[in-house]
Amino acid sequence: MTIAQAVQVVAEALAEAGIAEARREAEVLVAAALRVERAYLIAHAEQTLATEQLQRVRGWARRRAAREPLPYITHRVWFYGLELCVGRGALIPRPETELLVERFLSWARQQTFKETPILIDAGTGTGAIAIACLTRAPQWLGVGIDRSHAALRIAAHNRRQLGLEPRLLLMQGDWLRGIRPHSAHAILANPPYVLPDEWDSLAPEIRHYEPRGALLVPAEDPLQPYRTIALAALQVLCPPGLLAVETSPRLAPTLAEALQRWGYPNPHLEQDYSGHLRVVWATIP
Ligand SMILES: C[S@@+](CC[C@H](N)C(=O)[O-])C[C@H]1O[C@@H](n2cnc3c(N)ncnc32)[C@H](O)[C@@H]1O
Repeated sequence: MTIAQAVQVVAEALAEAGIAEARREAEVLVAAALRVERAYLIAHAEQTLATEQLQRVRGWARRRAAREPLPYITHRVWFYGLELCVGRGALIPRPETELLVERFLSWARQQTFKETPILIDAGTGTGAIAIACLTRAPQWLGVGIDRSHAALRIAAHNRRQLGLEPRLLLMQGDWLRGIRPHSAHAILANPPYVLPDEWDSLAPEIRHYEPRGALLVPAEDPLQPYRTIALAALQVLCPPGLLAVETSPRLAPTLAEALQRWGYPNPHLEQDYSGHLRVVWATIP
């Protein structure tokens, strides 16, 4: 079978499984299975696949048709222009989370620090937020915290791949518990924010494959992770420290009000590229 034929067969299988961008995904899948870039497929459309390559393409296509997310199959995902590794133990970084990175960078550019500034990525997952921030803010050091060992192993792999071992500390922990007062200058977090009544409307890729503990919040107290992080951040941040969190359009207005009650005088709301309220941020007085 040639590369062109393999792409066609996979695209048909994925379309039949109800996958919207079947052709694009087929190209990404075949390219990753052959360990080449997508452009290679066009230039070498008539190349015949080796037996081992064909087996890998078939196996991966079956998994994708069963709605396993492509990044869990290829172990590759792009975030803020960086290629990261991802696996079943960690949430797949989303494009909208890049907004948190943007918020941090534009705030950080306006600050001057006497000492080396430190950011904390609470609930770091693959390490995406901390890694993207540190690659663009070379004077900063970072700490990535997660309660999941599986996620931290993936974050450690990404840290090594991007040469950030000297600048990013990864630790297992419960949000900011035990972090020294006045030890950080920015705290960023994308905590779980899916409500149980939203679960059934999520794509099967999310419901069946991504870690529930990275997604779901209790219906009776959906702001619980934000409250824990925000109250601890009041102690952990050095003024005028930044707290920036990702949330859902449904929770964003309530969260902004709650931040005022918890001691942040002027919370800001930001929309994502689709026009949904997505980021809430504030600085401490
Ligand atoms: C929505 S995911 C975000 C992952 C990553 N920051 C991103 O944006 O792609 C939430 C992360 O918070 C972690 N988490 C959940 N509860 C936690 C807790 N109590 N303490 C630390 N991390 C927690 C999960 O393991 C998961 O990695």
